[in-house]
Amino acid sequence: MGVASGLVIDWDAQPDTSSWNALTADGYYTNHDPVNGNTLFAADVMVRPGFQGQGIGRRLYERGRLGLARQLGLWRVVAGSRLRGYARYADKLSAQQYVDEVVAGRLNDPTLSFQLHLGFRVTAVIGDYFKGDPESLGWAAIIEWINDEVDQGTARTK
Ligand SMILES: CC(C)(COP(=O)(O)OP(=O)(O)OC[C@H]1O[C@@H](n2cnc3c(N)ncnc32)[C@H](O)[C@@H]1OP(=O)(O)O)[C@@H](O)C(=O)NCCC(=O)NCCS
Repeated sequence: MGVASGLVIDWDAQPDTSSWNALTADGYYTNHDPVNGNTLFAADVMVRPGFQGQGIGRRLYERGRLGLARQLGLWRVVAGSRLRGYARYADKLSAQQYVDEVVAGRLNDPTLSFQLHLGFRVTAVIGDYFKGDPESLGWAAIIEWINDEVDQGTARTK
């Protein structure tokens, strides 16, 4: 009733981190690098409508993503959170202002608020991440979760 996919990437060797297409090799995941990679890039997650709000997304994240990062000794999990609620505010707020409001809890975004609730933090807000998406207008918040079970100094340069 839900699915999540991701790949391990060597973030510093990744030539382009500016869009979902670049980070997933246009969706083919051929940049998956389990030997040198230090970051789990959480590329996709979805729970079937009608089954949302029942804890499936939490399990996909906690077991499938954070659990996998712990198991593999990865430094962190990174995702691009498509700002699904942004289009409704775009005439009033910049994307950065929208994200600030969501982080402060004054606005709720259907995806970003869920991810913040699970312990992620926003590191950047970028445009042209999902070109042509009418809900986000292409904007995404880059979010990360740091694996505190690994030594950050060594894991980061693995
Ligand atoms: C985002 C999505 C994966 C969440 O999955 P879900 O199964 O509905 O989420 P869960 O029921 O597991 O919720 C987990 C927790 O997050 C909280 N949560 C979920 N949505 C939230 C929101 N909009 N704001 C605040 N908290 C939220 C829940 O209350 C729950 O809290 P708890 O476990 O402490 O009680 C799902 O809604 C979805 O598939 N959306 C459409 C696809 C999508 O947006 N994918 C991401 C593309 S970048």
